[in-house]
Amino acid sequence: MSTTITNDQTISPVTDFLPLEGTDYVEFYVGNAKQAAHYYMSAFGFQALAYAGPETGMKDRASYAVRQHQLTFVLTTPLKPGNPVADHIAKHGDGVRSLSLRVPDAKKAWEETTKRGARSCMEPTRLKDKDGELVMSGIHTYGDTIHLFIERKNYRGAFMPGYRPWNNPYFQPADTGLLYVDHCVGNVGWNQMNPWVKFYEEVMGFKNILSFDDEDISTEYSALMSKVMSSGNGFVKFPINEPAEGKKKSQVEEYLDFYNGEGCQHVALATNDIVRTVTALQSRGVEFLKVPTTYYDELLDRVGPIEEDLAPLRELGILVDRDHEGYLLQLFSKPVEDRPTLFFEIIQRKGAKSFGKGNFKALFEAIEREQEARGNL
Ligand code: FE2
Repeated sequence: MSTTITNDQTISPVTDFLPLEGTDYVEFYVGNAKQAAHYYMSAFGFQALAYAGPETGMKDRASYAVRQHQLTFVLTTPLKPGNPVADHIAKHGDGVRSLSLRVPDAKKAWEETTKRGARSCMEPTRLKDKDGELVMSGIHTYGDTIHLFIERKNYRGAFMPGYRPWNNPYFQPADTGLLYVDHCVGNVGWNQMNPWVKFYEEVMGFKNILSFDDEDISTEYSALMSKVMSSGNGFVKFPINEPAEGKKKSQVEEYLDFYNGEGCQHVALATNDIVRTVTALQSRGVEFLKVPTTYYDELLDRVGPIEEDLAPLRELGILVDRDHEGYLLQLFSKPVEDRPTLFFEIIQRKGAKSFGKGNFKALFEAIEREQEARGNL
């Protein structure tokens, strides 16, 4: 009987109705895109890529695209009050607007998701210039966050129609070894994790690959719950967090208060050499959370042998965890705005496909020390 099923699956495989080729770009709505672009270039090692604004026919906003390896960020700011970008910033401060996903067919991605219940934010739209044609469409997800579907197989330009190439011959900072988006985490409200898990399952065909309850992610004071959603091919991973009851305020609640709603909590950026990457980022002023140095006293007993020397890990505050497939090294920045909202994770995977469960307690205690200092615990 099982042989028959295997044969059936070979003949008629379960089709992925939303094949995703990865993250295309992350777009941030910010108060001052010119300065934010400079920060990501000078501090994170991105290169100038493309610009759109009044000079290219975009009257109400300016956007700067920056790139490092497979990683593209777009910083967008409103030029006038009363437009959607200005409203987003008035409500949330600086934050992630779009987690844009590369697809082979943007029209089909829109049709498949909207017929399963997604709320459209952009009908399939063809954009053309001398470098070809790019098709995009989009749907809403948690809070005011959206997913744009980007089909660029017939486009040869640097970024997309509407943008012009942008570079500054006097400012070309060295890269820091950041390669691509590993995962993007959403913070949602009380009792909202499971509805959003259902959304990613039913509307986008994702699978719940890992779950953490408040026993897994709690300290003496606060807790949260998390479920990791993965696209069918595993190229896109979206963990979803919600706050859980504790003696004091969960970090997810603090985020929801200051972001004024649900939104993207952190974007994890992959590197092949975390010691080099974090050394470069710290030397350029990126601030990271620190765990107590006692973390390193028992580290090798917990995770077993690792290839890296312990001394630079301890010095830089890099965390290590192991699962049954290998290990990973990770580190979390402090929020990159004055509000305690969006931050970045730097991650190097050496076989491990998990998310650092063994580090949750030390990490969340570090976050709580920061919350305490802000008076929000
Ligand atoms: Fe993460």
